[in-house]
Amino acid sequence: MYKLFFRLFFSRMDPERAHHLAFRWIRLAARVPVLRTFLAAALAPRHKELRTEALGLRMHGPFGLAAGFDKNAVAIDGMAMLGFDHVEIGTVTGEPQPGNPKKRLFRLVADRALINRMGFNNDGSAAVAERLHARVPVFRTVVGVNIGKTKVVPEAEAAADYVKSTERLARHADYLVVNVSSPNTPGLRNLQATESLRPLLTAVREAADRTVTGRRVPLLVKIAPDLADEDVDAVADLAVELGLDGIIATNTTIAREGLKSPASLTGETGGLSGAPLKERSLEVLRRLYARVGDRITLVGVGGIENAEDAWQRILAGATLVQGYSAFIYEGPFYARAVHKGLAARLNASPYATLAEAVGADTRKAAA
Ligand SMILES: Cc1cc2nc3c(=O)[nH]c(=O)nc-3n(C[C@H](O)[C@H](O)[C@H](O)COP(=O)(O)O)c2cc1C
Repeated sequence: MYKLFFRLFFSRMDPERAHHLAFRWIRLAARVPVLRTFLAAALAPRHKELRTEALGLRMHGPFGLAAGFDKNAVAIDGMAMLGFDHVEIGTVTGEPQPGNPKKRLFRLVADRALINRMGFNNDGSAAVAERLHARVPVFRTVVGVNIGKTKVVPEAEAAADYVKSTERLARHADYLVVNVSSPNTPGLRNLQATESLRPLLTAVREAADRTVTGRRVPLLVKIAPDLADEDVDAVADLAVELGLDGIIATNTTIAREGLKSPASLTGETGGLSGAPLKERSLEVLRRLYARVGDRITLVGVGGIENAEDAWQRILAGATLVQGYSAFIYEGPFYARAVHKGLAARLNASPYATLAEAVGADTRKAAA
């Protein structure tokens, strides 16, 4: 049904316009109590066996919405209504910014993929903090806050910009993510080098501890799939050294191998997401788990299209999993299908709990 609707309607619209339209419907539906109760019952049924504890937080399940969809924290309840167990808002930058000129989002339908060069279009840390402060939650959902660098801030002053966002946003975050992996802010990904990453993460940790008392805000870093394997290992080691809570693997890729879509599309600059990212994201996750084991919470994202993909990430070492691009192609039943399939897979597996399944395949391969 959604697929037909997508073909007849959304696929003929500019992708960013389609996003805004769908987003408006989700927000509207979430504002009408009867409708949201009905939709949540239909789209977000709970599966007891999927209850997850991660980052010191309790969640209904492991599957959440990846950053970039709700950049400004305007639709948290709407996304929870659609069955996402956690919603990662952002990327939010220190200062508001318009992002790159349009057109900046492209659908590669033949590849079940997207290319985006949005460039962190967002309302900025002050406005988003105010919105989160004023929010009266309808659904109990975990809210992650993903922060990045304001484009006009020079790379050398990046830490101060992240600290500004942290000071404003950490108190509203169930967990905080330092995004150093978007390909659309010049120089951002250089911050993944450990010489830059160490002082940055240390400064953000200190800012979070200074501004939030009474609890420790979990801190994660989100990395690119384009890192060389040695660099993945280096980030993993640094995360352990600094006592980081988690690593999110992965952001979008600048690679363009094996795509079926026309060159006019695949040649667009930006980050590629969706199905073609699956293999490398899984590989990075496996590598991370082999390195850090259970010491750090791993979040698997990149090309998760269905329950089987999510299950494979869990077996590879992810405690949490996220999706974005497949939501565009699969529609409002996406999260529901992932949950249902995950519960079935867990029940048919030798593992008594989801936690037991985390990393099982990677451990087996190492034995
Ligand atoms: C249009 C678009 C915008 C995105 N914006 C952000 C962002 O602001 N911050 C971020 O950390 N990741 C962003 N991402 C990356 C996603 O969070 C995710 O890591 C990536 O798309 C891989 O997952 P997927 O294959 O399920 O889409 C964006 C992705 C897309 C498609």
